[in-house]
Order: sequence, then structure tokens, then C-alpha cells
Amino acid sequence: MLSGKRILLVITGGIAAYKSLILIRRLRERGAAVRCVLSRGGANFVTPLSVAALSHEKVYQDQFSLVDEAEMGHLRLSQEADLVVVAPATADILSKMANGIADELATTVLLAAAAPILIAPAMNHRMWNHPATVANLDLLEARGVARIGPMDGSLAEDETGTGRMAEPEQIVTAIEAHFRQSARLAGLKALVTSGPTYEAIDPVRFIGNRSSGKQGHAIARALAALGADTTLVAGPTAEPDPSGVTVVHIESAREMLAACERALPVDVAVCAAAVSDWRTADTAGAKIKKMGTPPDLALTENPDILKTLCEAGNRRPRLVVGFAAETEHVVANARAKRERKGCDWIVANDVAPATGTFGGSDNTVHLVTAEAVEDWPRMTKQDVATELADRIAARLAPAEDTAE
Ligand code: C5P
Repeated sequence: MLSGKRILLVITGGIAAYKSLILIRRLRERGAAVRCVLSRGGANFVTPLSVAALSHEKVYQDQFSLVDEAEMGHLRLSQEADLVVVAPATADILSKMANGIADELATTVLLAAAAPILIAPAMNHRMWNHPATVANLDLLEARGVARIGPMDGSLAEDETGTGRMAEPEQIVTAIEAHFRQSARLAGLKALVTSGPTYEAIDPVRFIGNRSSGKQGHAIARALAALGADTTLVAGPTAEPDPSGVTVVHIESAREMLAACERALPVDVAVCAAAVSDWRTADTAGAKIKKMGTPPDLALTENPDILKTLCEAGNRRPRLVVGFAAETEHVVANARAKRERKGCDWIVANDVAPATGTFGGSDNTVHLVTAEAVEDWPRMTKQDVATELADRIAARLAPAEDTAE
């Protein structure tokens, strides 16, 4: 049921827009309040009158309507929603969302939205598979936009392929799942470290590593999607900041430790960062000049953030999860590391060069706990994150889990 939930439905210009009329009806039947924004393109497929009649609400279309702005305003429209649903989501709207374009009311509302966003893409299969759409979608998902579909089947113009909008009932199921999931860790706080650290040698050089931050950022997104108040302490990466997550950008291990300590107390900490083990004992204030012989860089040990969190006494998170990147004896090394660091779980991942894990989208992991070792099949880093967040919720909020 969706009683009391406020859904802002953005209808954009695709033939599947007719199904959005049924979607409005299904959502209202389940008790949701549905307010609609019709894009210029959307208005070519369904009429404002149909949308208004089904939603029992005024339909919003014009960014520069004095009446609409006086009554509601585009910021309030997006702020007074628990979830924004874009159905159908055309290739055009995905591109505009990815690029932050606000050229009409529909796009402006999406740019201003504070609520989570769920998209139901619908387009020709060639547009769906175009590298531009693939890149836009990757970016939107990295920022935390959720997606249902598109489905395989017959498309407009007598073609078949992937591109059909999910059926209204499937979209309703996804919306209900969203609200169920987003309550699981509500009221709990999570801390995630991600990415590499950079240890300055001088103002232009640093010691670093190849960590992409993909896994850690995905975990922060997954915990936030379960409703945890999530802080992500991120080293330098190309990953975008996930929406709905407090992101603290740092460079060095010492800055990462300080940011983590500031984030305490938390219920769960997941240390997925590839922290540099060493830094130079002294950072040169000016660029070190080539002098015929290489400089003698004296190194010193960095603080172990995971271990420090585990030893934080009464500020220790209830659950501390570490990562172990290993190239051989993956599970045995991870078991030993769990004991040494004092953490509850270790996610051991095989980063032998042949696996392509570093920088890639897939991961092969083993979850090592005090009781057992679980070998997970190879899956995307996003799926590892979702699975791990699910285990964390089961451990920290089991009552809510059984209530589902
Ligand atoms: O000791 P090692 O680097 O193999 O341990 C990996 C785990 O410890 C990861 O969870 C990593 O985030 C964490 N770690 C840390 N601070 C360090 C080194 C590693 O938090 N200085």
C-alpha cells in the first residue's frame, strides 16, 4: 500500500505515455497522492485534461506560468514529494537529467528534486543501446537514480528489442519496493570510506593507487537507499557524489581518519577505501628538482583507519566491515585480517590482474564473518553493494526485516 505517499509523476514525450494514465490510476487505488508534471513532449501524447481527471490534481506544464508559480512554484513541486517517478523516461530526458539541463518545467523540477528519483525508460532499442544513452544512464545510476525497465518486446514502428516501458503494475511494484526498502535502515547512521588516498610528496607529486572508488561509492548508495543516514568519506575518484549521501572529500589517509572520527558515532562502518599504507615522512613545500640522483624518500606508516574504528571503545560502531584486496590465498588472508584488525566482517576480493576487478564493474567476493565464509558468485559491484547492504540491514535491524 502507498497510503499517504506523495508521488510526483513526470510524464515525458514517448508513445508509452498512454500507460502513465493507467499508472496514475493504479497509484491512487493504493492510496498515493499523485501530482503530475507534463513535459512539452509528453503533452503531444496525452492531454492535460486526462492527466488532471485521473490524478484529481492540477497538471503542471509551464515553467513561466505566473499562475502556477504563484500557486506552487517549481521548487515546492519537487520538494513536496516522497518520490519522483519519470515515466516514460525518454532518451532526451535522460540526457537532460545527466547534464543538468533545465529548459522547461519537467527538467527544472528534476534538477531541483530532493526526493529520490525512479525512472522508467522507454525508447527505440537503437536509442537505448546508443553509447550516449549508456553513458547518461551510468552517470544517473552512479548518482543514485533508480530504474525499472525497459523491457524486451515489441516496440513502436513494428520493431522488437529492449525499449518497452515497464507495465504500470511493474512500476507500482517497484515503487512499493522502494518505500519498503527505504525504511529498513531508517534512523541508523552509516559511514563508508571509498577510493584511494593520495599522499603528497611535494606540491605536484603523490603516492597513490589504482582504486576507482566504484565499490565503496556503490555501498554508500545502497545503504542510503535503505534509509541509513550515510556519510561517505571519499578519496580522489572520478565517481560522482551519490545524491542523498553526505560526501566528505579528502586526499590523505590522515584526512580520511579525521573525517571518519568526526562522523562518529555511527551504527555501521564499511571501510572500502584503498588507504595508502605509507606517506613520505616530510612533504616538500616546493617541487623537488631533478638533481642527477633520485631523492631519498623516507616513508612512514599511515594510520590504520579500520583498526582505529574497531578500537574506538564506546564509540565503536556496532558493526565494522573491512575489505581485503588479495591476489592469492584470498580467504585465508582475509580470515587472518579479520582477527588482526578486530572487525566483524571482511569482504575479501580477488584483485589478481587477470580478474580486472581494479577499475572494472564486476567483483568476485567472499564474505568472511566470525561464523562462516560465504563465496558469492561474480557479480557487478552494484550488486555486491546491494547484497552487502541487505546483510547489514538483516544484522542491524532484524525486527524490521521479519516484519516485511
Ligand atoms: O591492511 P590492509 O590494507 O590489507 O586492510 C584492508 C582494509 O583495511 C580495508 O578495509 C581498508 O579500507 C582498511 N584500511 C584502513 N586504513 C589503512 C589501511 C587499510 O582503513 N591505513
